[in-house]
Amino acid sequence: MIRLNSTDSTNSYLKKLAENGAPDRTAVIADMQTKGRGRMSRPFFSPSGSGLYMSILLRSPVPETNVTTAAAVAVCRVLESNFSVKTGIKWVNDVFIGGKKVCGILTEGVTTADGFYAVVGIGINVFEPSEGFPEELSGIAGYVSAQKPDTDKIHALAQEVYDAFFDVYSSGSWLEEYRKRCFVTGKKITWKSLGGTVVGIDDDYSLIVSTDEGLIKISSGEIGLHYD
Ligand code: BTN
Repeated sequence: MIRLNSTDSTNSYLKKLAENGAPDRTAVIADMQTKGRGRMSRPFFSPSGSGLYMSILLRSPVPETNVTTAAAVAVCRVLESNFSVKTGIKWVNDVFIGGKKVCGILTEGVTTADGFYAVVGIGINVFEPSEGFPEELSGIAGYVSAQKPDTDKIHALAQEVYDAFFDVYSSGSWLEEYRKRCFVTGKKITWKSLGGTVVGIDDDYSLIVSTDEGLIKISSGEIGLHYD
């Protein structure tokens, strides 16, 4: 695992390594990111000392959703085995504790002349950021542990998440565990301009939602959880 004090984004850094031939399963961790990226072109708040920011290179061609869901399951396992917490997954890849998001995952697929690779980026708010969360994240973002921030602990967790990710991913079957951990089933949600109730998770990890127009399948984008 390559350790950096700071970088713009571990996903961007690892993509450059990938373009220069880095092997499958290369991983990068940084103590902070100056341009951490989230899904939907959002920034990912990545201060020094409190968070785990890691990216893993996969050279095998697999659907991005599958990689992402495996990473979410791995993060839940590691957080629950290290801390007294109950985690849950908000479809498709956000890990929550006590109603707050503590982890986001951004998987980016790249097609090159030689084939395909994916970079799986995992960001976990392990400890409380020393300056707190920015205004726009308060009420949404949370952290895993109220203990004093500990960089050695973050590094140890990163190795555990890395190992758990390959355990889950190599097992080839994490759908049932994903379904159990995903807390949106039975909930009312919004998606784009639609509203409905989640009936379940399909075999391809898409969301099955009952709407006024009947059952629909959602396979990308982000759902809102406050629909009445
Ligand atoms: C999200 O919540 O929208 C996804 C956040 C993903 C953040 C991680 S931190 C490590 C990696 N590097 C990045 O720039 N983003 C991912």
